[in-house]
Amino acid sequence: MNLSIVVLAAGQGKRMRSSIPKVLHGVGGIPLLSHVLKTAQSLEYTQLLVVVGHHAETVIQTFPQTPIEWILQITQQGTGHAVLQALDKIPETHRVLVLYGDVPLITVQSLERLFSATAEHELGFLTATLKNASGFGRIVRNRAGHIERIIEDKDASPAQQNIQEINTGIILAPRSCLARWLPNLAPHNQQSEYYLTDIVEMAVAEGMMVRSANPISVEEILGVNDCAELAMLERFYQKKQVEILMQSGVRFLDPARFDLRGSLTASLDVVLDVNVVLEGNNVMGPGCVIGPHCYLKNVTLGKAVQVLSHTVIESAVIGDHSIIGPFARIRPDTELAQHVHVGNFVEIKKSMLGAFTKANHLTYLGDATIGQSVNIGAGTITCNYDGANKHPTYIGDHAFIGSGTQLVAPVEIGAHATIGAGTTLTENAPPGVLTLSRVKQKTVRHWKRPVKE
Ligand code: UD1
Ligand code: CA
Repeated sequence: MNLSIVVLAAGQGKRMRSSIPKVLHGVGGIPLLSHVLKTAQSLEYTQLLVVVGHHAETVIQTFPQTPIEWILQITQQGTGHAVLQALDKIPETHRVLVLYGDVPLITVQSLERLFSATAEHELGFLTATLKNASGFGRIVRNRAGHIERIIEDKDASPAQQNIQEINTGIILAPRSCLARWLPNLAPHNQQSEYYLTDIVEMAVAEGMMVRSANPISVEEILGVNDCAELAMLERFYQKKQVEILMQSGVRFLDPARFDLRGSLTASLDVVLDVNVVLEGNNVMGPGCVIGPHCYLKNVTLGKAVQVLSHTVIESAVIGDHSIIGPFARIRPDTELAQHVHVGNFVEIKKSMLGAFTKANHLTYLGDATIGQSVNIGAGTITCNYDGANKHPTYIGDHAFIGSGTQLVAPVEIGAHATIGAGTTLTENAPPGVLTLSRVKQKTVRHWKRPVKE
């Protein structure tokens, strides 16, 4: 039978106290709704519908690529009302799986359990048993253990509030049944809402058995209502990611002090020290070592690259056996070849450095193309910006740039050239020779230091 997936994401998320729509808040750097959509997309389905309401425009604009049928729920009158808005778009013979946009970590494996427990013509709920069930709808079972109804937390009697089995909100139902039940929901409850959960009693009244399945882990079904819950899910998500990475051989000095906001593809023997934060898509070749307190975003590291402590690298490719840091900053569009050394307080932007080139101290290289085995002395600055435009600097192989040098771009330094320390280079330097600009040194013999009056 064909499957339509309906994701509910119209709610305001008042308790987040934020101007950002709740489903766009991130876990692992990815919006809550993206997590749900990713899971939905790994199921075999024919139709993906998302019910939006609050900040609908912003939510829709966030997912321009994804093939989604957006359903607008203009006023949020409850989960039953939300599903009803989507019903018209769903073909008669389909099954409907309801997911929540603010329950991001549900796994395909748990959903498969729900599919196994529920026959095509049946109604099934994903339920879980929690030590603290407050806030959730409770599953009320009869003496035979069959589900009889779901009572919302706010409507539950004290005895019902003691029930620990809860509704995760994720359900599976034939479209034909929903078409029969949903129009008959009534908002006769504490919240004056059309509860999706009231279809249980309708099914039971028809003599239908209501099925249930449990998720693989309880954390998967936790929703995000406020910042504390968001932070808790973040921790759980990070823990899970680190476990997967460790299974694939990545070594962490402390798995609790690592954050991945995106992806890491790591080869053998990659070691990550404490407080490493990775964003975007990162690739690390075999034997890479990342020191403590480093931030890497969209970075590709070759073999045995060492990134020393407190280094920031963004959108760059680093060649085999290079050593970067400590305290280095590599900015976007930088490409370093093999065996490059970049030391402390060196900033590199949109530049290429050839193999065995070194820039070890206190340097800025921007819009520069630098050959192989070049030595960039301490305090070298490419003056690449004239206040209006950026200009390139070219440095040939085996050039030696003395310390405290300014290279006023556009400028070119030939291969094997030497630039004397303290030079302000404003014209091209020919290959193989020494170029320097320097005021002649003088000593003032009879000079006296000023003294305080
Ligand atoms: C709901 C369930 C409860 C369950 C809990 C699990 C009902 C009546 N209650 O309660 O049994 O234990 O989830 O987390 O179903 N939404 C809309 N439109 C609406 C109302 C809600 O799209 O008009 C969306 C929300 O954005 C959210 C989801 O539906 O993603 C759940 O809504 P929420 O108000 O959080 O329901 P709960 O009170 O948590
Ligand atoms: Ca909720």
